Amino acid sequence: MLSRVASPRVFIDGFAGTGVVGLHFRAHARRIVSNDLLYSNYVVNQAFLNSTPGNVDPGRLRELLAELNRLPPRRGYVYEQYGGRYFTPRNAGRIDAVREAIEELAGEGRCTAQERCLLLASLLYAADKAANTVGQYDAYLKHLDAPRSPRRHLVDSNVHKPLRLRLPDVELGEGRHEVYNEDLNRIIAGLRGEVLYLDPPYNGRQYIDCYHVLENILRWQRPPLYGKTRKFARAGLKSRYSRRPEAARALAELIQAAGSEHIFLSYNSEGIIPDQDIAAILARKGRWEVFEREYAVFGNGAGSARRRPIRERIFYCRAGKGR
Ligand SMILES: C[S@@+](CC[C@H](N)C(=O)[O-])C[C@H]1O[C@@H](n2cnc3c(N)ncnc32)[C@H](O)[C@@H]1O
Repeated sequence: MLSRVASPRVFIDGFAGTGVVGLHFRAHARRIVSNDLLYSNYVVNQAFLNSTPGNVDPGRLRELLAELNRLPPRRGYVYEQYGGRYFTPRNAGRIDAVREAIEELAGEGRCTAQERCLLLASLLYAADKAANTVGQYDAYLKHLDAPRSPRRHLVDSNVHKPLRLRLPDVELGEGRHEVYNEDLNRIIAGLRGEVLYLDPPYNGRQYIDCYHVLENILRWQRPPLYGKTRKFARAGLKSRYSRRPEAARALAELIQAAGSEHIFLSYNSEGIIPDQDIAAILARKGRWEVFEREYAVFGNGAGSARRRPIRERIFYCRAGKGR
């Protein structure tokens, strides 16, 4: 359906997350504008979109990664807070050593700002691979530090392997993309681009709650943590799109302020904004239609492994038409 907009000059990926959508459209648009509320997503998007032969030296990066991989573990913040919980104590100590060293390398001018992003992205992927979770950081399996104990939970074998940084597979380009780390509602009025792609959170689960560990390691402000899940105070990182009473208003304000001609909204049939609200919001902006596909997901939120169908939908709105 994006063929309706043959080759946009600018494609805005407003809730970019991992950045795969922006990366896909990089081949079809002159410029990508990528944005996400989480700093960890910003780092990855910046790393993949804006690496150029001028700001990244792959040879130096390989040497720096090898140097970081040789560092002995350190008993620092990650070791104290997450060791034996989300990571083995040894891997937590490795993360401490690497995270600290990345700031030192940047401070001493031994890597560029762009290379710092690539090193951080590499640490993020390595830490996530070695994490003792089932994907999200809301819980971890117990008995982590007793690998041979008969009471041990079965964990991914990567959890016990030494954390290892790898070179992210980035393509060096012209670096003409814009990457932001903002609440999209705050910056939307200033963004220019014919295509606006919106993939907001659609349920009550806050992304920061699911990924707080990675976000905390990347931000590296070392705030106090609390509770079993070791979360930090993160009110400023919570999304209105994950709050039932606020989500529809947030979307209405966003669409109203958007200056793009073609707006694509990804929102599945289980989203917290009622369909009639989405219809009213889009109708105020222009002519709209919806494309849907049935998709089978696992689970019902209560741990069941039964499949249930949901409808993945893309709402397309042509601003200013047919109002
Ligand atoms: C459904 S995910 C996007 C997934 C993305 N399309 C991908 O392929 O990885 C929603 C994203 O929106 C971000 N987010 C939530 N509220 C936001 C806001 N107000 N402004 C910008 N980003 C926000 C979250 O951090 C999360 O990464």
